[in-house]
Amino acid sequence: MPDTKDETKQRDGHSYMTLLMTPDMVNFSGNIHGGALLKLLDLAAYACASHYSQQYVVTLSVDQVQFYEPVYVGELVTFKSRINYVGNSSMEVGVEVWAENIHTGEERFTSNCFITMIAVGDDGRPVKIQPLKLVTIQDKAQFVEAKLRKQLRAEHGRRLADLHEKWSDHVEDLTQEEIEMELDRAMTEA
Ligand SMILES: CC(C)(COP(=O)(O)OP(=O)(O)OC[C@H]1O[C@@H](n2cnc3c(N)ncnc32)[C@H](O)[C@@H]1OP(=O)(O)O)[C@@H](O)C(=O)NCCC(=O)NCCS
Repeated sequence: MPDTKDETKQRDGHSYMTLLMTPDMVNFSGNIHGGALLKLLDLAAYACASHYSQQYVVTLSVDQVQFYEPVYVGELVTFKSRINYVGNSSMEVGVEVWAENIHTGEERFTSNCFITMIAVGDDGRPVKIQPLKLVTIQDKAQFVEAKLRKQLRAEHGRRLADLHEKWSDHVEDLTQEEIEMELDRAMTEA
């Protein structure tokens, strides 16, 4: 079979996925279930990162997702994905979710998130991918912002690990007074 991978083609890192929201995706309020949207967010990022890198990818992390507005059955939902940052094997994909009323054409921004994807080879290990071509000043600013987010994620991961170590792994090192004092604070602070 011929190798169809075009090594010379630089992909722009943008992709769009549009779906009509169907009744099988609803929650008990009759709106689109958040879990269904999470799956689609991951799928959109997966397609965007695979297309850009010309490799299969795996999801490393999904940043905090907030749903600003409900999405309704019968709306057309578009997942607008963009590669913000490329390291060696990692890509940060920003995904915006837009819901459109098919009759009026009115569009609503309903959520967004940042998903980190890793390009992997046949052995499932990370592989190097082409660097991101930064053309506009916006591309450059997005890259810097995404790189800073990557550093924040690493720092956040370290702090969460420290918390877990103190309050779960080595909880026996804490005195009962220390635990009671922190509990009081946890119960009273908003
Ligand atoms: C993704 C995976 C292959 C990475 O393996 P790894 O041994 O951590 O790989 P590396 O240490 O070489 O890191 C790979 C990249 O991830 C980045 N990375 C790793 N941990 C990170 C973190 N916590 N935050 C941000 N980036 C991180 C590294 O910086 C590196 O980026 P770069 O190649 O652009 O420099 C491995 O963790 C894995 O297979 N995870 C399961 C993925 C999966 O199955 N997902 C599906 C859903 S369960």
